[in-house]
Amino acid sequence: MLKPVDYNQRQHQGYAAGRAMPDQSRAIWAAALARRAPARRPLSVLDLGSGTGRLTPMLAETFGGPVWGVEPHEQMRAQAEAAPHPETVTYLDGRAEAIPLEDGSCDLIVVFLSLHHVRERAAAAREMRRVLAPDGRVLIRSTFSDRMPDIDWHAWFDGAREAEMLMFPTTGEVEAMFEAVGLRRLGLDVVRETYADTMTEYAARMRLRSISTFEHLDEVAIEAGMVRMEAAVAAAPDAAVYGDGDLMVLG
Ligand SMILES: C[S@@+](CC[C@H](N)C(=O)[O-])C[C@H]1O[C@@H](n2cnc3c(N)ncnc32)[C@H](O)[C@@H]1O
Repeated sequence: MLKPVDYNQRQHQGYAAGRAMPDQSRAIWAAALARRAPARRPLSVLDLGSGTGRLTPMLAETFGGPVWGVEPHEQMRAQAEAAPHPETVTYLDGRAEAIPLEDGSCDLIVVFLSLHHVRERAAAAREMRRVLAPDGRVLIRSTFSDRMPDIDWHAWFDGAREAEMLMFPTTGEVEAMFEAVGLRRLGLDVVRETYADTMTEYAARMRLRSISTFEHLDEVAIEAGMVRMEAAVAAAPDAAVYGDGDLMVLG
């Protein structure tokens, strides 16, 4: 098992800039989540592992109800609190294994690129089941190691793909985790998004190393990868960068 990533140490520093989401991608995710959420409005939403609040205000605007951003790392949560957000958003100290909310209080739980950081998956599934409203939905945006896509930067940084194969769960593991608490997989959507309008912008963000996979690579691999990345940017500086993201739907 890979060592846990402590976002209070290093990852919080470049996260907001390095993982900035273009507005068009945020709109694409808003639509993708809305399509799989219960139809009524407003909805109360838990953004589990909300980080710097990259998506949390969007969830409030999309679903109209109270939104709780639950995040264990103080250095991430503080940035979310400092950023503009609607009054309906509340950021709380907590983690998937101990969610600081009432039973049945959430119509929708969004777990966006945070499930792979959860160490005690059985406890997290029990907690999500506990806070989920009876007809609620859990939406998991994740990479799944049995569906690992071809990612450009995996080819640049030696060891990155191997680290991510260890880091991310399989679809079967996630299904089993939720089946144990009576939730089943209702779908798996593939959402195409723009990571960056140009390779130049993409590389500027990658230089901030704000992908937790970098915490599992050695300095030699990172430096060599940055050189390969610069060559790729020089070859196509204005090319847009796209990716396909998996969204598992449970309920
Ligand atoms: C890649 S970031 C994603 C943040 C946010 N969802 C986003 O998309 O910008 C992963 C987040 O998961 C959080 N995290 C780590 N362990 C967690 C746990 N046990 N429960 C909930 N969140 C956790 C980290 O602190 C970090 O903020």
